[in-house]
Amino acid sequence: MKVLVTGGAGFIGSTVVRRLLAGGQDVQVLDNLETGKLRNLPADVLCIKADVRDEAAVRAACVGCELVIHLAAMVSVSLSTVEPERCFDINVSGTRNVLAAARGAGCRRVVLASSAAVYGDEPTLPKREDMPAMPLSPYAYAKWQNEIDAAYFQRFCGLETVCLRFFNVFGPRQDPASPYSGVISIAARRLLSQQPFTVFGDGLQTRDFVFVEDVAAALLAAAQSPQAVGSIINVGRGERVTLLQLVQELSDVIGVQPALQFADPRAGDVRHSLSDVTRLRTQLGIHSQVDLKTGLATTIDWMRSEPDAA
Ligand code: NAD
Ligand code: UD1
Repeated sequence: MKVLVTGGAGFIGSTVVRRLLAGGQDVQVLDNLETGKLRNLPADVLCIKADVRDEAAVRAACVGCELVIHLAAMVSVSLSTVEPERCFDINVSGTRNVLAAARGAGCRRVVLASSAAVYGDEPTLPKREDMPAMPLSPYAYAKWQNEIDAAYFQRFCGLETVCLRFFNVFGPRQDPASPYSGVISIAARRLLSQQPFTVFGDGLQTRDFVFVEDVAAALLAAAQSPQAVGSIINVGRGERVTLLQLVQELSDVIGVQPALQFADPRAGDVRHSLSDVTRLRTQLGIHSQVDLKTGLATTIDWMRSEPDAA
């Protein structure tokens, strides 16, 4: 099967590309390399350097593909509060391009990366997919819009779609150099270089951290499962920790005492996040395999092996 992975040179994308290749699939990537890197990809993978907003490029990339895994996006909640229009342009217009191109090329299915950010301030925990969306950031509104657009293409355009609401994903190849990257890669880099880590808020906010290999497994299951068609499915571990607990776990793995600085909470920040994993289990047959400690140890090993990362 020929598969297009948008955002395939990024953190989650490059992990899913490896899994697809290991399964014998013919994979190509479309990525503008804004946050992704060619070195994340195995050398023999075709990477089309293009923007998801470029209709012609996306149309051409979809030709002959049975499946599209759409991951390209502006990923940072806080950046989206600074650049809301660019976020909507990339995340909403870009996604509509991908859906339209996939339909036009006769692709069977598109699996899209949505986000736990869609739940926003919905106070109930754990977050279930049938709860109302209460987005707090432009990023979250854009991901919510992606789900609506996917439902439209599913219902009226003959395209199978599956939306996965990832919770907080971590693991090797998450870029630790960007201030807009995920908190685990940022905190790990600061601790490894014995520099203070800045906690936004009181550190008692909670997140459900899920290891990237578990997310890649969910993406492949979503690409195949007949029950998943037309669904929105959480991808988390179903456990949460406070940010302060996370930093303690990281410092145990690294073997250093953390030095913390505190700053104001970030705009658009969700307070608590925890995934209900019932649909993940029943519709995709996925149980998270990697616990937080093991995932952190694997991530730190990778950072130590990468001169640019640590
Ligand atoms: P990432 O930044 O590593 O990957 C995003 C990729 O998209 C990069 O390779 C980047 O170069 C590419 N890209 C960005 N803008 C593009 C554009 N306009 N055209 C083409 N390519 C573009 O981030 P990631 O963590 O791997 O995120 C992948 C997807 O998962 C995103 O859709 C993100 O919103 C979603 N997601 C991530 C998390 C998480 O915790 N990392 C959680 C929920 C959802
Ligand atoms: C993350 C993802 C987002 C995804 C969402 C799903 C990234 C960059 N963001 O957003 O794409 O949709 O999960 O739940 O991968 N923090 C600090 N100090 C720092 C960095 C962060 O205190 O240096 C705090 C933040 O304020 C936040 C928490 O750590 O409270 C997590 O931040 P972050 O990793 O950016 O993730 P989310 O905003 O939850």
